[in-house]
Amino acid sequence: MTFASVGAGRWSASLLAMSADIALAPPPAPEITAAATVPVLRCTGLVKAFGDRVAVDGVSLEVARGEIYGLLGPNGAGKTTTIKLACGLLHADRGTITIDGHMSAEELAAKNAIGYVPQDIALYPDLTARENLSFLGRLYGLRRALLRERVDEALELTDLVDRANDRVDSYSGGMKRRLNIAAGLLHHPLLLVLDEPTVGVDPQSRHAILERVEGFGGAGMAVLYTTHYMEEAERVCDRVGIIDHGRLIAEGTRRELVAQLGEKDRIDLVAAGDLEQLAAVCRTVPGIEAALTADGRVRLVAEDGRSVLPPVLEAAEHAGVQVNSVEVVEADLEAVFMHLTGTALRE
Ligand SMILES: Nc1ncnc2c1ncn2[C@@H]1O[C@H](COP(=O)(O)OP(=O)(O)OP(=O)(O)O)[C@@H](O)[C@H]1O
Ligand SMILES: [Mg+2]
Repeated sequence: MTFASVGAGRWSASLLAMSADIALAPPPAPEITAAATVPVLRCTGLVKAFGDRVAVDGVSLEVARGEIYGLLGPNGAGKTTTIKLACGLLHADRGTITIDGHMSAEELAAKNAIGYVPQDIALYPDLTARENLSFLGRLYGLRRALLRERVDEALELTDLVDRANDRVDSYSGGMKRRLNIAAGLLHHPLLLVLDEPTVGVDPQSRHAILERVEGFGGAGMAVLYTTHYMEEAERVCDRVGIIDHGRLIAEGTRRELVAQLGEKDRIDLVAAGDLEQLAAVCRTVPGIEAALTADGRVRLVAEDGRSVLPPVLEAAEHAGVQVNSVEVVEADLEAVFMHLTGTALRE
């Protein structure tokens, strides 16, 4: 198979159909073959250390065709290192990586099957979007009419057609992010790997990016997505792996992960005063499993929300903190993370 033909026709029709102004008939349902049941990415027991620091410590995960797998974890958890291993950009100290059931991540054919969208923008600022994509497409072996077609398609998919001939240094942060994603789509990868693609973008661009990512999964691509935004993982990912200190500490659908909390309640206290002190005081209240400050709130995970509230409010009064409101919120991945680690996803 030549490089340019990798994936041709596999999902391009349905991806293009996502673009608002292009209406295409839905693609025929993919044929279910034995190969379709082989995970596109299989990582087993990955270990990677930098000197004494173990960045990835025994990570195993699989991503299937059409699945969006989210790697959720705080700064320094090992997300980028894990995906660089999965993309063959770093060599693992231990463990194996298999792409599409038969390729090792470091062989050229596997690299051709992966679209890697790095955490840091990797574009030429003094070239236009079209020039950037044409250059990168050539690196993937695309030529002439096919190259033009793929560049147009990637610009359409990321809503950049209107600005295609503008230099990238005139782009907003969100537009650069979208173009960064477009670059990863040119060669129709089987596996799209996105490392924190929404960092530093405004809510509107974030929404547009997330919508596109949902579409990629819907169109049959396998997507590995890293984020430290719990809301994003909850929204776009079919399955989530929670990573902390290089270890995958939990994995499953949102429902499966939240079920790990059992009957526990999540409570948010909106308060004025020393929130750190309030959190410290809350930790001493029997029945409170974790108490953290985040986003101007004190977040609690408790065995039974109703029974802990009176002692919490009393403790707050003693600590001289005024609690303005109490919200019992639905258990979410943040609560799962707090339950498993005793720390907040974002501090
Ligand atoms: N090239 C490197 N040399 C030394 N240490 C490294 C290197 N790359 C990563 N690390 C360390 O490995 C750990 C994991 O880093 P990694 O970049 O994988 O985390 P991350 O989850 O992607 O974090 P972030 O959310 O901040 O992007 C960190 O302690 C980091 O300092
Ligand atoms: Mg990272």
